[in-house]
Amino acid sequence: MTQIAITRTAHPKQTPPDDSLAFGKVFTDHMFLMNYDAGKGWHAPRIEPYGPFTLDPACCVLHYGQGIFDGLKAFRGADGQIRLFRVADHAKRLNRSAHYLCIPELDPAMVEESIRALVEVDQRWVPSKPGTSLYIRPTVIATETFLGVHPSHSYLYYLIIGPVGAYYKEGMNPVRILASDTYVRAVKGGLGAAKTMANYAASLYGAEEAQKAGYTQVLWLDAVEHRYLDEVGTMNIMLKIGDEIVTPPLNGAILAGITRDSVLTLLRAWGYRVSERPVAIDEVLAAAKAGTLEMWGTGTAAVISPVGELGYKGERYVINGGRTGALTQKLYDTIVGIQYGTTPDPYGWATTL
Ligand code: COI
Repeated sequence: MTQIAITRTAHPKQTPPDDSLAFGKVFTDHMFLMNYDAGKGWHAPRIEPYGPFTLDPACCVLHYGQGIFDGLKAFRGADGQIRLFRVADHAKRLNRSAHYLCIPELDPAMVEESIRALVEVDQRWVPSKPGTSLYIRPTVIATETFLGVHPSHSYLYYLIIGPVGAYYKEGMNPVRILASDTYVRAVKGGLGAAKTMANYAASLYGAEEAQKAGYTQVLWLDAVEHRYLDEVGTMNIMLKIGDEIVTPPLNGAILAGITRDSVLTLLRAWGYRVSERPVAIDEVLAAAKAGTLEMWGTGTAAVISPVGELGYKGERYVINGGRTGALTQKLYDTIVGIQYGTTPDPYGWATTL
C-alpha cells in the first residue's frame, strides 16, 4: 500500500467540550486527501491540515453531482480505547456507491487505512461522554473541468472527521415523522441505493414542508404507488407489528444501512421473526390504531431512533403511546454497548484503532 504522507498543522485548535456537541458542525485539525487521474489510478494519499481546497468552477461535481460519501463513527470507551464500528463494511459500501455513479473503484483496504490514519492523527478529538462520538465522512467528488455530461476522468477522495453529539434535537426521545403522499426521494432503477448527494438534495423540499407541519423527518414512500415504505432519508425504518419485525427490503430505492444490517443480525440471533418485505402504509396505520405497533429508525448518525408519531394525509397517529418501546431501547443499548466496548461483540463489529 502507498505510504501516506503526513503534514501536521502548526496551529492545533482547541477541542470543544463534550456537552456542547451537536452534529456535523465541528471538524478536527486534519483531513485526508487522495487523487485519481486516468492512467495513474488513485495516488498521492496524504494527510494535511484541515482547510478549504480549490475547485475549478467548471468541475464536474458542481454541475452534475457526480459524487458520493459515506458516514461512520469512532467511539471512545470507558476503557479509553478508540473503536471504529464496522469500518470494513463502510469501505465496501463506499465502493458500491462509486459503482452507481461510474466512479473508479477504490481499494477498500486503502479506504480503511485512510480512516485509521486520520483518526490516529486526530485522536485527541474523539470525545468520551456517553452519546458522543467522532463522525467520519469519506467523500469522493468528480473534479474534471468540462461541461459535457459523461463520467469524469479525475476525482478527489477526501476524508473529514469531527466530534458529534445526537443527530436529532430530540436525542434518544421519540421523533415525529410524516409519510409523504406528495414528494418522492428515489425510484427503483435510480440512485436510491447509493449514498450520493442527489438523494439528499431530493429530500430537502419535502423535509422543509414536514418541518413546517411539526415533524422531524419525512418517511418516504415508494415513488410509483406512494404506498410502500422506503426509508426516512437519514435512517432506515423498522417496525414491530405484533410479534413480527418488518423492514422494507433492499429494493434498489433505499440505502443498505449498516446499522440496519446490525439490528437485523441481532434480532435474528435473539429469535425474532424478521421479515424484509414490502410494508404498505395502510398496514402501519392499522397497527398504530390497534396499538400493536413499535417503530424505530436505524442509521449511523441517528443510531436507533424511536418514532413516537406518524403523520399521513393530515392525520396524526401516536405510536406506542409516544414512548420509546422496550425493543427499541434494548436495540439501542446493545448497539451502543458494542460501540463503546461495554457489551460483548460476537460479530467483531467494533475494532480498536
Ligand atoms: C449517516 O447516518 O451517516 C448519514 O450519512 C446520514 C446523514 C443524514 C447524516
